[in-house]
Amino acid sequence: MTPIKTLMSTAVAASLALGATTAQARDFRLGLITPPQHLWSTEAVAFAESLHERSGGEHSVSVYPAQQLGNEAQMVQQLQTGALDMAFLTIAEISNRIPDFGALYAPYLVDGVDHAAALLRSDTAAELLELMPAEVGLVGLGYGMVGMRQVLSRAPIESQADMRGQRLRITPFEPIRDFYTATGAAPAPMPLLEVYDALANGQVDAIDMDFDSILILKFHEQAPNLLISNHMMFPMVGVVSGRVWRELSAEDRELIETTMAEHLENVLSGFQAMDAAQEKEIRELDLNIVEADAAFFSDAIAEWEATWGDKAPRLTMLREEADRLRE
Ligand code: BEZ
Repeated sequence: MTPIKTLMSTAVAASLALGATTAQARDFRLGLITPPQHLWSTEAVAFAESLHERSGGEHSVSVYPAQQLGNEAQMVQQLQTGALDMAFLTIAEISNRIPDFGALYAPYLVDGVDHAAALLRSDTAAELLELMPAEVGLVGLGYGMVGMRQVLSRAPIESQADMRGQRLRITPFEPIRDFYTATGAAPAPMPLLEVYDALANGQVDAIDMDFDSILILKFHEQAPNLLISNHMMFPMVGVVSGRVWRELSAEDRELIETTMAEHLENVLSGFQAMDAAQEKEIRELDLNIVEADAAFFSDAIAEWEATWGDKAPRLTMLREEADRLRE
């Protein structure tokens, strides 16, 4: 396993900065599933560099992208035991463990990336993070995201009826599984880095994906039809293991919290900044594009709401906040 080693080793850095290694000096490990060129990964490396610098060389962070430490379910287990210190995780895995986070995936909760970023910056979204220490043993320090979800498919999808029976790749989590099941599709949970081959060899007919990942991982080479639906936002959370957090001094917690929050904010604003250009680039590719809105999925949305309205009671508050942000 080769982490992206951000800077020199902890021992060398600490001795240069402080003259000697202190008892508190740490080489943290941060895992994530995205490939090295993805904004989450580059901001994780930038966070590592900032933390190293701001701790006067005392702390370093080794970043493990591309699922090197396992999938998100495995990383959450490692975080819970303290075997892993930090991660940037999709909310997908968190919503499997704390259903209230499923509310963030309500279809058409937000209108686009700017609205999504505003909601994720709100106190209402921040309050959800407070559930994490008690319910999953992780400390959530802030949100990132990718762009809105779209459907890329081998055969055209022009109505919800065309989705019936389609083997449709999803990120492995329940709210999205329930949404696509309600459309009549057959959801196939699959990690991001397995999607290209699954599309190429016909294991799946369609994928749930964002513009950025379609472009970075070239999924459009394997599926010529795009339903621009913007049907869900796709948040990420920066976390520290609760066990590790308890061992840290108040000063180190403050430093990690502010530094990580700053780089997560770069992820939010980065996706806001990239979205229009990525959509333009995708529209210029040789794809058959169909547009969809909430009316396209109306039956599926009604079914989803009936399930998740009960499972994720904070949906009401999030929706009120999303409405306020529209005004
Ligand atoms: C996905 O599972 O589709 C995904 C995960 C992380 C970043 C982007 C996409």
